[in-house]
Amino acid sequence: MATYNLLLLAGDGIGPEVMAEVKRLLGFYAKKGVADFRTEEGLVGGAAYDAHNVAITEETMAKAHACDAVIFGAVGGPKWDKVSFEARPEAGLLRLRKELGLFANIRPAIVYPALADASSLKREAVEGLDIIILRELTGGVYFGEPKTITDLGNGQKRAIDTQVYDTYEIERIARVAFDLARKRRNKLTSMEKRNVMKSGVLWNEVVTQVHAREYKDVQLEHQLADSGGMNLVKSPKAFDVIVTDNLFGDMLSDIAAMLTGSLGMLPSASLGEIDVKSKKRKALYEPVHGSAPDIAGKGLANPIAMIASFGMALRYSFDMGALADKVDAAIAAVLASGLRTADIKSEGTTAVSTTQMGEAIIAELGRLSA
Ligand code: IPM
Ligand code: MG
Repeated sequence: MATYNLLLLAGDGIGPEVMAEVKRLLGFYAKKGVADFRTEEGLVGGAAYDAHNVAITEETMAKAHACDAVIFGAVGGPKWDKVSFEARPEAGLLRLRKELGLFANIRPAIVYPALADASSLKREAVEGLDIIILRELTGGVYFGEPKTITDLGNGQKRAIDTQVYDTYEIERIARVAFDLARKRRNKLTSMEKRNVMKSGVLWNEVVTQVHAREYKDVQLEHQLADSGGMNLVKSPKAFDVIVTDNLFGDMLSDIAAMLTGSLGMLPSASLGEIDVKSKKRKALYEPVHGSAPDIAGKGLANPIAMIASFGMALRYSFDMGALADKVDAAIAAVLASGLRTADIKSEGTTAVSTTQMGEAIIAELGRLSA
């Protein structure tokens, strides 16, 4: 049996609650003898700050480098509003992304048939939706230098963030995007703001060149990120794969999440380059939703995005695509049976807690593998 080393970083707010459902799933796989998943746990975000005064310790970073995949919950909350910018909870996540080189963030937005009415958009607009937002994750304005606030001495301050992209960063994310598109409906939409930003001009140019050189068979279109956002809510099904930079991807993926009915539904995979020697790639799997401090500890959180994120780990890190398909099928079946956490509750459905949702998905997995 293959052995895989997982680092579980539950984080803050609802992070530990949804992570508990991943642990339940791992317990199920252990009993079934699917694979030998070995887990270690660590602190990140506000939890790490409370214990060590940093958003992630060197020791935890070392474990993240050494493991086969990081499974991440969520970080942040009002409790840490006054913490210095360097030690704020989000800094732990950003450091993981940057230092592990996780440049490719795959955020699929799928509307499960049972949830087509949970979206704020009309059923016809979202029914059957299955798109991917591919977000560049280690560059752009998130990490560009200078990143400063300077006192100008005249009662004014000046804040600077820097949007910066080099050719190689755009090329490598474009290749991931074209490869994904080839396995799907063969259509890629690239979004930037070339009408305003130099980084948008280069982004557009490089994606166009990679297409002409290596991926002529894929249908490529370019949209400005603002009207692209509009089209995403106007006719989301017109898209297949969308590739965009770090900041636009952050915004567009939250929008895409709401198309599916709730932020609690969207999983994500953050992947690094494939190492030529080991053929392995660094990876982190996390739900798109945040730590939702307002509902933390109440058993209200939806664990589906977290469980589906582990499904993505099966697919992208452990080459267990068939098992990942079963996770998705189990989620769909449980939703079809009418069970709903609070965020996706609608009339005529049955309200369940985080734990009950997790248990129901695993029971369904048991039936599917029987
Ligand atoms: C996300 C989140 C993060 C981001 C935060 C928590 C730093 O919003 O993963 O989308 O901005 O990237
Ligand atoms: Mg976000």
